[in-house]
Amino acid sequence: MTTATTAMEYDPFSAGFQADPYPVYRWMRDEAPVFHSEKWGWWALSRFDDVRAAATDPETFLSYEGIDIDDTAKDQSGPGFLPDIDNPRHDQIRKVVQPHFLPRRIAAKEDAIREVVRGLVAVWQGRGEVDLAQELAWPMPNEVFFTVLGLPSAQEEGRAQLDRWVHELKDRRPDDPSLTPVAKAATAGIQKYFIELLEDRRRHPREDVVSQLVQAEIDGMPFADEYLEPASEILGLMMVLFLGGVESTAGLTGSLFKLLAENPDQRALLRGDPSLLPAAVEETIRHSSPLQLVGRTTSREVTLHGVTIPAGGRVVLVYGAANRDERQFADPDRFDVTRGRFRHLGFGEGRHGCLGAPLARLEAKVALEEALPVLGDYTLAGPPVRYATTPNMYVWSHLSLSFQVPTANDGEAS
Ligand code: HEM
Repeated sequence: MTTATTAMEYDPFSAGFQADPYPVYRWMRDEAPVFHSEKWGWWALSRFDDVRAAATDPETFLSYEGIDIDDTAKDQSGPGFLPDIDNPRHDQIRKVVQPHFLPRRIAAKEDAIREVVRGLVAVWQGRGEVDLAQELAWPMPNEVFFTVLGLPSAQEEGRAQLDRWVHELKDRRPDDPSLTPVAKAATAGIQKYFIELLEDRRRHPREDVVSQLVQAEIDGMPFADEYLEPASEILGLMMVLFLGGVESTAGLTGSLFKLLAENPDQRALLRGDPSLLPAAVEETIRHSSPLQLVGRTTSREVTLHGVTIPAGGRVVLVYGAANRDERQFADPDRFDVTRGRFRHLGFGEGRHGCLGAPLARLEAKVALEEALPVLGDYTLAGPPVRYATTPNMYVWSHLSLSFQVPTANDGEAS
């Protein structure tokens, strides 16, 4: 007996694909491991070993054309946007910012992060229902980002606008790689905001990361230009910290609570053994990778699985597909917090591996520690809604949950 396979199309810009990417990913891994998109002109790698080999070979798979496959690199990222830079400049800039994101520096922020999370949970804990995406997953990393970098707090001037911009920055239409006017206006607004903030910290340094970035030197030369403008490297660096820090952590946190609603057996395991919480975080990043893909450009001709990609070819590394590869993970579509230690590509790997991984992991763990006891045996109160955004992200914009609120009598002995 022969099995016929229907050819599929991998088009990350299409609404149909975005509704459920995983059947397409499986087809790509099995039938088209080097998928060539006639429509968009790039090649896509989807098997774990292939994606990992490319991610860890930054001399062949270059980043200068940007990790985004839409117009983000052209219209938004700017120089200094770390994932879009090759060496030697990449390592020089990464060295400036890396010390602020080392695990021990981030661990020292745990109390501040917990305070942010407790403040958010306190608002809805007596209500019996919550839109977890809007009321925890998004505001938590947003507020933590400001705490970590030393930016104005939620109460200060300009913050409300900035909170809106973080969403508007990602405004896109299906089937269209260009930034909408809303996204372009948000980009300009945020760049102006960062310029004013950096100028202020240059004149009046504080004990915060932004002050140190604006004063940093690379080989004896100031990192920040004397006259800051959107094309200054430090602006691109601020942008990646902001975008990377908020949206992907929001995606991780939303998916965590969604997957635990859909898999109460796994939630019960966590309740019985809280030491499994970090494993639940890793499994979520593997299973529902917030950053689904990154782009690269080949520095030489590459032949893989019989397909030749020319030098200068645009290649998409589909982390979201690699993390579901059955060649690497048993029963990969299953959400299983007891997989033990495993390697995944949800934070990338190698030169461009995620700078903020320790922060994202800590935030997600604290969110579980604080919110799970309040939510108890919660359920989904409606279909979760995916965020309409760039094709690279897997993030929830609405996640309605119902949960039991203890009554005054619950605490009394029977
Ligand atoms: C769950 C949350 C997060 C996920 C899933 C995630 C994912 C990733 C991935 C896959 C990459 C590699 C990109 C590539 O291969 O080109 C990356 C890079 C990066 N991430 Fe994250 N990230 C998260 C949170 C954060 C946070 C909290 C920050 C900082 C505040 C951050 C900052 C960065 C930066 C600066 C890079 C570029 C590193 C470089 O090119 O040297 N990320 N992230």
